[in-house]
Amino acid sequence: MSFIIAIDGPAASGKGTLARRLAAHYGLPHLDTGLLYRATARALLDEGLPLDDVDAAVEAARGLSLTDFDETRLRARDMGEAASVVAAMPAVRAALVDMQRAFAARPEGAVLDGRDIGTVICPAARVKIFVTASPETRAQRRALELAGRGEEVDYNAILDDVRKRDARDSERSAAPLKAAADAVTLDSSELDRDQVFAVALEIAERAR
Ligand code: C5P
Repeated sequence: MSFIIAIDGPAASGKGTLARRLAAHYGLPHLDTGLLYRATARALLDEGLPLDDVDAAVEAARGLSLTDFDETRLRARDMGEAASVVAAMPAVRAALVDMQRAFAARPEGAVLDGRDIGTVICPAARVKIFVTASPETRAQRRALELAGRGEEVDYNAILDDVRKRDARDSERSAAPLKAAADAVTLDSSELDRDQVFAVALEIAERAR
């Protein structure tokens, strides 16, 4: 079986950074699956449609192309919240499954990060890591990241976003955010990026 690394976790847990580093280390392609939900929400907003228009959301999801994401726009603060609204719709999730599985089916393997990679998209992934951290730590990291991009930051508003998104992602009935039974949980609250990477690498090497 090819080498699939599934990284899941809540908003701003550091899973994206970790996934990118693991992909670079192993020379594997990487898919940030949050971008799919962000791009779906963005398409609706760009057309002036409400986020709860399921048919339009499904059509937008089906029309996505993995290669032409405008990441800067999609990573803006308000897009995470919008993404979590469309991500709660089972029909939208269903429309995105094949695309993600096709990406994971590359012969050399792949690294995917999201909320349901280890549970739904790639349940047979060889490596499953659930990255987590306290809401306060995650809000601080997100604030630094946004400030680094020149966005205005309000720590309390960001903490509020993180909590809201955790609740919506964990409480939805379609593929809720949770660690797969066979995932290793990596709490990054007290670790810096290099330490998170070192621990993850050990986990991945054991499974290789
Ligand atoms: O990871 P990111 O913050 O970019 O994800 C944005 C939103 O997309 C999440 O809050 C979640 O609602 C949704 N998502 C998901 N399943 C994934 C990836 C993201 O439901 N695999």
